[in-house]
Amino acid sequence: MRVFVILPAAGLGTRMVSGHTAPKAPKQFLVLQGLPILAHSLRAFAVSPRVSSIYVAVRKTETGRMQSLIAEHGFGGKVRIVEGGLSRQESVSNALKAIHAAEDDIILVHDAVRPLIDTATIERTIDAVERFGAAIVGLPAMDTIKQVERTAAGAIITATIPREYVVQAQTPQGFRWPVLQKAFAEAEADGFVGTDEASVVERSGAQVAVVLGSPENLKITQPGDLKLAEFYLRQRA
Ligand code: C5P
Repeated sequence: MRVFVILPAAGLGTRMVSGHTAPKAPKQFLVLQGLPILAHSLRAFAVSPRVSSIYVAVRKTETGRMQSLIAEHGFGGKVRIVEGGLSRQESVSNALKAIHAAEDDIILVHDAVRPLIDTATIERTIDAVERFGAAIVGLPAMDTIKQVERTAAGAIITATIPREYVVQAQTPQGFRWPVLQKAFAEAEADGFVGTDEASVVERSGAQVAVVLGSPENLKITQPGDLKLAEFYLRQRA
């Protein structure tokens, strides 16, 4: 059994605007404590002895920047570059097609923009995939969750969803290779596009387990997130 990691890193990061100016680099290349966000994420997986290779999907225009990053940091010689797609799902699909996996191999997908992922959580996800066939990292909801209808006047609550039935999906999201392969082939045939890999796998009928995540494993989306990530990194150092 081998573990392959896919890091979709081909997003534009359009929500990452500060004032009225967009950042010069896509958010995954912004620097956090002296290292690009993407390099933090790559390093967390590269140091795990259970991870065989990491496939990072980047936009064609970022290939040079990615090659320099690999040349500088090495990442244990585990990183391969693939071309990203128009959606996150397409980026993951391109990487999946480049991986020559066997039936019992595991594929982990991790947002490039979650640089604070730790090795213990990665290992717990791998263990859960070995046991259940599919598992994601999730965070129990702390706030009361409302279902709303969007109207011209704003959002109107239509229901309160009991908190114990809700988790916030994070990454890594891991699957035995045939489970992910089948789900992606079905989604492609049906034109279904999900916001995470678990949603694609759920619709193919497989059960997906949840392992406990942490608020530190935040997804860098808005400018304020960088400050928070810097704070967490300083705490660790
Ligand atoms: O845009 P969002 O925050 O959902 O992106 C999640 C991850 O998916 C990011 O790491 C981003 O770079 C990646 N992505 C991608 N290809 C796209 C869009 C997003 O690899 N076309």
